[in-house]
Amino acid sequence: MANHTQEPLLEVRDLKKWFPVSKGFLQRQTGFVKAVDGVNLDVQAGETLGIVGESGSGKTTLGRCITRLYMPTGGKIIMRADGETMDVSALKGKELSAFRKRAQTIFQDPYSSLNPRMTVLQTVGEPLLVNNVAKGKELEDRVTEIILQVGLRVEHLQRYPHSFSGGQRQRIGIARAMVLNPKLVVADEPVSALDVSIQAQILNLLLDLQQKYQLTYLFISHAMSVVRYVSDRIAVMYAGKLVELGPKQELLSHPKHPYTEALLAAVPKTSQRKRGMRLVSAGEPPDLANLPKGCVFVSRCKYAAEICQEQAPVLRPLGSDSFVSCHLAESLTLQGI
Ligand SMILES: Nc1ncnc2c1ncn2[C@@H]1O[C@H](COP(=O)(O)OP(=O)(O)O)[C@@H](O)[C@H]1O
Ligand code: SF4
Ligand SMILES: [Mg+2]
Repeated sequence: MANHTQEPLLEVRDLKKWFPVSKGFLQRQTGFVKAVDGVNLDVQAGETLGIVGESGSGKTTLGRCITRLYMPTGGKIIMRADGETMDVSALKGKELSAFRKRAQTIFQDPYSSLNPRMTVLQTVGEPLLVNNVAKGKELEDRVTEIILQVGLRVEHLQRYPHSFSGGQRQRIGIARAMVLNPKLVVADEPVSALDVSIQAQILNLLLDLQQKYQLTYLFISHAMSVVRYVSDRIAVMYAGKLVELGPKQELLSHPKHPYTEALLAAVPKTSQRKRGMRLVSAGEPPDLANLPKGCVFVSRCKYAAEICQEQAPVLRPLGSDSFVSCHLAESLTLQGI
């Protein structure tokens, strides 16, 4: 469980990642896709912060900025680990490599993220080799230890990815992310490519590893039903912005943003599973290269008032531990689950 009396492990302040867009024969740059646009959040050591939102809302981009697979366009990322405070957004060279050892990613697709020509030993051992952490017998021992932890067996070490099932491949991906003893793990849709029957096994494995190694997770998924299973707190993302952030139970039972309410209404109840997912709500997210001047959710919001067209709401505290970005949050009574 997270310890809220300490300084957060991670602080994200006004983070922006804008991708340039160019048009026409001369490919002139005409603007930006604002994939992440002014995100603020803290992550406490040992907690799982879930990030949920529809496809295209900027979740992957946010995760990739935090692990510095992307250089942010603006804003700050601060990480505190082992008594050190790092300005992640400014790291270069050796310091950046040292940071990347502590902040690892588990990717969605265990098929495309594993090299088909590398054995499990090579795949999981590569980060140790590249970072000069271990080689030879020592490397083999460390890899063996970690693959046993993730539920694989010693005889798997010399096999190639094609001989494994989807769930086993994701276990390999998890072993690779864990082998360097990271502090922070960004899990980006780690079960979205897997059969529903396998998903719970992988989620439970992630929870076990978190306990064992005191890991902090940023857990990204488009599926509220998955995020709610693993998270201590949940952040809801829409069109590159956080629209709500709060403790899981509070967010589920008393949503404060109309988009959160819509996401919760779409969580399939047991009786509806066979009929498939219901739609989140009518309409499309805004064009990220041409955002509205008011609230990003205005075109789909059934509560929208005049002010919503004119002014963009900002994320602000509401209640004891929650944050919301909606002009009308105090006056709405929204339906939870
Ligand atoms: N490398 C890129 N270049 C240009 N646009 C991108 C790039 N990566 C993502 N985008 C755009 O940014 C938006 C957010 O994408 P992404 O972070 O992948 O969302 P999510 O993970 O929530 O589905 C999308 O509109 C996507 O098309
Ligand atoms: S600010 Fe207005 S449009 Fe945006 S979510 Fe709140 S009520 Fe809806
Ligand atoms: Mg994504």
